[in-house]
Amino acid sequence: MIYRKATFKDVEAIHKLVNDYADKGLMLPRSRNAIYETLRDVVLAEDQGEVIGAGGLHLIWDELAEIRALAVVPDRTRGGVGGRIVGMLMDEARELGVKTLFTLTYQTGFFASLGFREVPKEELPHKVWKECINCSKFPNCDEIAMVKEL
Ligand SMILES: CC(C)(COP(=O)(O)OP(=O)(O)OC[C@H]1O[C@@H](n2cnc3c(N)ncnc32)[C@H](O)[C@@H]1OP(=O)(O)O)[C@@H](O)C(=O)NCCC(=O)NCCS
Repeated sequence: MIYRKATFKDVEAIHKLVNDYADKGLMLPRSRNAIYETLRDVVLAEDQGEVIGAGGLHLIWDELAEIRALAVVPDRTRGGVGGRIVGMLMDEARELGVKTLFTLTYQTGFFASLGFREVPKEELPHKVWKECINCSKFPNCDEIAMVKEL
């Protein structure tokens, strides 16, 4: 198993991973365009040449970043892969000087186990909502905001 930054060759695997979950309503869908534009955000787990998990660290504002588009293939969940990916994203965030990490998620148990706490969405700065206008759920967002101070 290796954990590494994503490259162009990984785009199709990331697209399938995220959108298979999106089809089940567990994540927001992501276009190839969005994946290309944020490819430098992404850390992934690879096992025997297969991408088995991925997640992104997206910079939002001064000392503020988001963990987004995190997914592990269904038959490899609960094996520590998601936690390890978030751990790597947190290391990268610390190196960049990020002080506050947040996520919008349905997986509160997973993020709580990594030290995130639930907060009212209104506590997040307005800049966070810039991309929501493009979301199919806008304006009825049912994701839960969680925050971790680094
Ligand atoms: C959420 C997800 C990325 C977690 O990845 P994972 O590799 O299964 O997570 P880990 O094995 O690293 O879990 C670490 C810890 O988080 C907690 N945890 C993980 N999944 C959990 C769940 N569904 N409910 C409650 N706690 C959970 C547990 O404490 C777990 O440790 P344990 O297995 O020793 O008890 C994965 O389940 C997934 O891809 N889900 C579908 C897509 C999705 O919902 N993504 C989140 C979008 S923000």
